[in-house]
Amino acid sequence: MHIPVLLNEVVNILDIRKGQFVIDGTLGEGGHTLEIAKKIGKEGKMLVLDLEDEAIRAFKTKIAGKKDLPEIICENENFANIIETLEEKNFGQADRLLLDLGFSSNQIEERNKGFSFLRTEPLLMTYDANRKPVYEILREIREHDLEVILRDLSDERYARRIAHAIKEAGKKERILTTTDLVNVIEKAVPKNYERGRINPATRTFMALRMYANDELGS
Ligand SMILES: C[S@@+](CC[C@H](N)C(=O)[O-])C[C@H]1O[C@@H](n2cnc3c(N)ncnc32)[C@H](O)[C@@H]1O
Repeated sequence: MHIPVLLNEVVNILDIRKGQFVIDGTLGEGGHTLEIAKKIGKEGKMLVLDLEDEAIRAFKTKIAGKKDLPEIICENENFANIIETLEEKNFGQADRLLLDLGFSSNQIEERNKGFSFLRTEPLLMTYDANRKPVYEILREIREHDLEVILRDLSDERYARRIAHAIKEAGKKERILTTTDLVNVIEKAVPKNYERGRINPATRTFMALRMYANDELGS
């Protein structure tokens, strides 16, 4: 289960009032959404978005039949398209917008999408199933471009070595799972990587997730 980050603090900072129209652009498991929904009451309205179809479906099931909630419109959509979505639905201006970026713990624990380097899973890392998975990106990308992504998106100081190791390993056998990638990274970096403070795969996984989902573009 995902524990919403700083739930009370977020809701307090947003200063949610009864009857407002609030957008949660990153629904996840809906922890923030439900707390906001309680505050705006039945006179309010919410628009909630998530790139992940499973998140939207699970939330619809969760709220089905609940009578004490405001109207909550759920869209499997990128928050980058909020303006278009509002115009299309003729919703007018929203009072508040919440974006809780990144991934949720249930995306690590339940979805089998390869977000965590601590589990052996297919190397997908995409919220939206229609986007190109990381294993395909690693097959197609040029070594130099990969190096730039690792350096720019995660400050990985061994970006060149890791990018080289990934492309070399891919020539022998395709990198298809999280563990395949972790093994390549571990061999490419020094034994005392970051003095043991973080797993050697941490930065590479973060950079690849951001790139695969165009998180900066959103
Ligand atoms: C940290 S979780 C949100 C957790 C949520 N606040 C809760 O209480 O459960 C981030 C969510 O944003 C979604 N997401 C990431 N990028 C997105 C984007 N560009 N547009 C819409 N949803 C996105 C992910 O699929 C994930 O479900």
